[in-house]
Amino acid sequence: MIQNSNAREQWGSKIGFVLAASGSAIGLGNIWKFPYIAGENGGAAFIFVYLICIAIIGLPVVVGEVLLGRTTQRNPVGAFRALSKSKIWASVGGMGVIAGFVILSFYAVVAGWSTGYIIESIRGSFFNFDETLTSEVYFNSLTSNVYWNVGFMMLFMALTMGIVYAGVQKGIERGSKIMMPILIVILLILMIRGMTLSGAEEGLAFLFNPEWDKLTGQSVLVALGHAFFTLSLGMGAMMTYGSYMSSKDNILSSSVWIVFLDTLIALIAGIAIFTSVFATGQNPAAGPGLIFQTLPVVFTKVPGGFIFSILFFLLLTIAALTSAISLLEVVISYFVDEKKWKRHRAVLVMGFFAFLIGVPSALSFNILADVKLFGLTFFDTADFVASNILLPLGGLLISIFVAWVWGFDKVLVELKKGAEKVFDESPFIINAWKMFIKYFAPVLISIVFLHSIGVLGLILDLFN
Ligand code: PFF
Repeated sequence: MIQNSNAREQWGSKIGFVLAASGSAIGLGNIWKFPYIAGENGGAAFIFVYLICIAIIGLPVVVGEVLLGRTTQRNPVGAFRALSKSKIWASVGGMGVIAGFVILSFYAVVAGWSTGYIIESIRGSFFNFDETLTSEVYFNSLTSNVYWNVGFMMLFMALTMGIVYAGVQKGIERGSKIMMPILIVILLILMIRGMTLSGAEEGLAFLFNPEWDKLTGQSVLVALGHAFFTLSLGMGAMMTYGSYMSSKDNILSSSVWIVFLDTLIALIAGIAIFTSVFATGQNPAAGPGLIFQTLPVVFTKVPGGFIFSILFFLLLTIAALTSAISLLEVVISYFVDEKKWKRHRAVLVMGFFAFLIGVPSALSFNILADVKLFGLTFFDTADFVASNILLPLGGLLISIFVAWVWGFDKVLVELKKGAEKVFDESPFIINAWKMFIKYFAPVLISIVFLHSIGVLGLILDLFN
């Protein structure tokens, strides 16, 4: 029997959990990363593959992670400890806690830019960029300023800590209930603005008319890797949020909601961004600078650009905030459950520590730009280690644990709680989940993982 500590908080409602978990999923990944990787990988064909990855791997693993959390009512380390005696599995949870720090360290830097860009847009800075070159110079002048870069990152971390400090219900749940509706409304306004610009059709065609020849093996791997990142999988964020859930709630339907909202928001963000990028004749494949360098040019050119620029960076910052709180919460839940720290102390100490770890990433754009590990700056290293190693490896091990180690009979008993109706009326859904989590997820994630650490290339070379 797994003991429940009395002090452990729970979500106030099912919708509270769904909004908080969707808030974790919907973030810079949807609004900053998804549009630019779709742009770099040819648009519609890439999106098609991405949707398949989300459905056959993303959704089943979300269910698995939330289930681990809800069953054990523990942080990622405690969750594995509760179900297995082996230290190896507890260290998978530990890897999640470390990933929380690592992701937060570069995430808070980009989120800091977004926060700083709210101020820039209010100051009316995005009025005079006739071409990307000038907005690029502007972006570089801001990020090369140590005070600007570290200062806004610090402000963003302080906001994140403030919400987590207030607790699960009063901070994370309440914050998500306020911020998520605002996010959706702003995004709809921006989508309508984009679609009513003349020339918007070209942007829509780019997103929805597949050109299959543009799809490469590499894009398939990028799509699967991104499916993980965008759904906050592989590091115990969904597990931690699941641990505040009661067994009365239906994990299957909640997970479908989370995945649906995350995908919908990525697509709407794609529409809002590409319709305006095409309508103003900008390059859709501009890469990571799409948001911070191309969009300011768009704002200069479209009617109402002043107000839309403020709305856009507000949206981006809100999205980043609801994700960053989940990253910090993974760390906090570990210190509260396992080390018996008080939440407030954990937030202050670990939040500050996460900020310190992020400083080298923030300095990667100025004084530490030339300091490289394996050819990558601190910022790029943190992104690479998290997105290409920690998350896929974590996701792989979590799906193996749920499908092969925990004991599938026990898994089904837990999953059934709150979802009795699905088990009785639509057993094929359960069978499909079983197949995806047992076979598809481990095999496909292994391929991505091996590829991203370059092993696959070596193996293929051996056969050539
Ligand atoms: N899902 C977030 C995004 O798309 O921006 C990023 C993220 C948040 C990844 C939380 C992992 C995580 F645990």
